[in-house]
Amino acid sequence: MTIHKPRLLTGDTPTGRLHLGHWVGSLENRLALQDQYDCYFLLANIHAFTTRAERPADIRQSILDVAMDWLAIGLDPMRSTLFIQSEVPAISELTFLFSMLVSYPRLMRVPTLKDEIRDKGLGDNYSFGFLLYPIGQVADILAFQADIVPVGEDQSPILELTREVARRFNQLYCGVDSQTEDKAYVAQGGLFPIVQTLHGRTRRLVGTGAPNANGVLLKMSKSLDNAIMLSDDPDTVAKKVMSMYTDPKRLKASDPGTVENNPLWIFHETFNPDKAWVAEMKTRYRAGTIGDVACKKQLIEVLVNFIEPIRQRRLVFEKDPAQVWQILRDGSAKARAVSDQTLQLAKQKMQQNFL
Ligand code: TRP
Repeated sequence: MTIHKPRLLTGDTPTGRLHLGHWVGSLENRLALQDQYDCYFLLANIHAFTTRAERPADIRQSILDVAMDWLAIGLDPMRSTLFIQSEVPAISELTFLFSMLVSYPRLMRVPTLKDEIRDKGLGDNYSFGFLLYPIGQVADILAFQADIVPVGEDQSPILELTREVARRFNQLYCGVDSQTEDKAYVAQGGLFPIVQTLHGRTRRLVGTGAPNANGVLLKMSKSLDNAIMLSDDPDTVAKKVMSMYTDPKRLKASDPGTVENNPLWIFHETFNPDKAWVAEMKTRYRAGTIGDVACKKQLIEVLVNFIEPIRQRRLVFEKDPAQVWQILRDGSAKARAVSDQTLQLAKQKMQQNFL
């Protein structure tokens, strides 16, 4: 008897290289779970088109960049399936079918959608396809009948939508009782498991920049120019850390410093393995017996030690992009087979199987 591992699915929108925020939000969980789960990692290139349809070459390049970051951190094509969204037609078909299970007002209440319209300054100029992308993401997940999805906190509302669509499909077309507990849906005959969300250990990593007008530190994001990339060389890391925002009221090393809401200490807490050093130096920082520069120098060492092996592994793939494309082609073929099977079952449940 073969024991099927539970399925894990997650992905990244190819809009540039990956950074430390991706690492704590989702990447480190993916690495930790690669053996326990049957893992699917998706490059959401159709999603990228929802906000940058006029930049196809950038999207193509970003697919390669993200794939190389994945391989460099250790996502392993021998154990996991790495694939491109647009090569998997079942996702698009399921998007259309699922779109009938979500009301328009419900879709417009997805906070991720509203936040993006605001943060990207889209105004009224977003496309219809942009509005469809949360349902597309639901289809990404359900096409693989995933059990668990590791994502950053900002993606939670879409995971809630995914659960709603799965419950509704299972009730409407698989005869599952609406009082069924989430974990019992499949046992009761449902096609789609009700997914669990897995958040990273840091719910939302801040960037290297100053807070906004409301005093809130912004999340790390390439478009806000406050990100440290997993492919940054040591000099770049050093420059970014040296110019990082810290306690603005501290003018000299003997001024007492504030540790809370200070990116310097948030980064030490997140990435410095020497917890004793961090605890001691926080006390000294508060007391004004250690300077910003000394703490920044230590942070540079910590981050370079972490990033440099990743960057070195990435350089190997950069020399051989053909190999990376081949990994994605193989992964996409596997993803196609698995998701086609789900689509056939979905059509059967919907009584629309004719061939
Ligand atoms: N929207 C996600 C992001 O921008 C990427 C994504 C697309 C995703 N499809 C997914 C994540 C399915 C998890 C599951 O980060």
